Amino acid sequence: MPMLKIYVGTMYGGALDVAEQVAPLFESAGYEVAILEQPSLDDLVEALPDLALFCVSTTGSGDFPGNFVPLVRGLDEQSPALVGLRYGLIALGDSSYGETFCGAGRRLDEMLQSLGASRLGERLEVDAMETFMADDAALPWVEEWIEAQRLKVA
Ligand SMILES: Cc1cc2nc3c(=O)[nH]c(=O)nc-3n(C[C@H](O)[C@H](O)[C@H](O)COP(=O)(O)O)c2cc1C
Repeated sequence: MPMLKIYVGTMYGGALDVAEQVAPLFESAGYEVAILEQPSLDDLVEALPDLALFCVSTTGSGDFPGNFVPLVRGLDEQSPALVGLRYGLIALGDSSYGETFCGAGRRLDEMLQSLGASRLGERLEVDAMETFMADDAALPWVEEWIEAQRLKVA
């Protein structure tokens, strides 16, 4: 069974909630799912997952949530080759923060692509000003993502 790893970066639990809500959609599509609440670089590079989903919120002024910093630091310092990594990205933010809206998700996206990873489809940006529960935006997006990218394996 192919493996989907969901890498979570969260301060208040919203991004984790998204991960937990969308996991069954991937299980139904034929994946074994692992949700990583304290993701490290090893979780990414030691055994590249068949598919990756990043659910990452933004804190501070466009900063990564603390639990996600070790992974980002690892990417920054070690610049691992991520060729072959296929991923989707759900960024949580709040447009009232202006220029730093979804800053962490956007930066992560740039980092992953610069290391050779391939994003499948567009990034989802969930704006807390518009969507009270991020799941309301994430669930239909994931359903569509699985369909449009032909990710179903069972
Ligand atoms: C102290 C603080 C700083 C924030 N800074 C930003 C920011 O710079 N850019 C942004 O888009 N959202 C920012 N947000 C909004 C959060 O990203 C948003 O509420 C998100 O849904 C939180 O997700 P989480 O529950 O997974 O942490 C900030 C929220 C707080 C409380």
